[in-house]
Amino acid sequence: MKTVAFFDSGIGGLSVLEEALCKFDAKFIFYADRENVPYGEKPREEILKYVEEAVDFLAERGAEAVVLACNTATSVAAKILRQKYDFPIIGMEPAAKRALDMDSTKRVLVTATPVTVAGEKMRALIGRVDKEHLVDLLALPKLVNFAEKGEFTGVKVETYLKEKLAPYNLKDYSALVLGCTHFNYFKDTLRNLLPDNVSLVDGNEGTVRELARRTGLQPKSLDNEVEFYYSKRNITDKKELMRLDGYINRLKVMREIK
Ligand code: DGL
Repeated sequence: MKTVAFFDSGIGGLSVLEEALCKFDAKFIFYADRENVPYGEKPREEILKYVEEAVDFLAERGAEAVVLACNTATSVAAKILRQKYDFPIIGMEPAAKRALDMDSTKRVLVTATPVTVAGEKMRALIGRVDKEHLVDLLALPKLVNFAEKGEFTGVKVETYLKEKLAPYNLKDYSALVLGCTHFNYFKDTLRNLLPDNVSLVDGNEGTVRELARRTGLQPKSLDNEVEFYYSKRNITDKKELMRLDGYINRLKVMREIK
């Protein structure tokens, strides 16, 4: 069975892992760089150093493919990592194209971290897919902090989102793109704040499909186990594993919210 690793700065990447766990058999490794999260407001060179360190570690652990289950890490490091390793490096990209394909008449709000929003990769993506200038970009860095604290709902989260969404006339939008894997935890709150004409769109399904295509993963037939790491530290503590399980269960619910 193939060993595939999922990397994120923190717990956001669990949303991509959850998608893979539902669909394919593999030996799964999940690495959250919790010593250095959040990435989204750090200098790019610093992020690159962290991601390279993590992928070196995962290669030593026998990873035969690494999913950068983090839009920020992909923006900074995917190109460089692909030159360094001969196994597949699967990146993530905010699903702006998918959103525009769903409705090419209304506006699309792409949310992500400040690093992803300001990156060259985003500029190239928008240049490629947004011919009619329908896309707006919005950085939501605080959602990463809320997620890492396990604060997925409540007044503080709602107030922050309301404030950030206030400048947009949401009736003109067909989609809000979740361009950071941490944002998947907030789908219920977002759904309550957004009008019905705005769908929530993420790139998890496409990323996992690409992983399966590149590595030949077989459809799920087993109860696959996951080995968890927090910045090179193997997590074996029962309480912590239960907490991670709780997050995965929340993501199962979030996945149904569109
Ligand atoms: N989950 C990450 C992403 O998809 C980044 C979160 C962060 O560390 O700022 O962009």
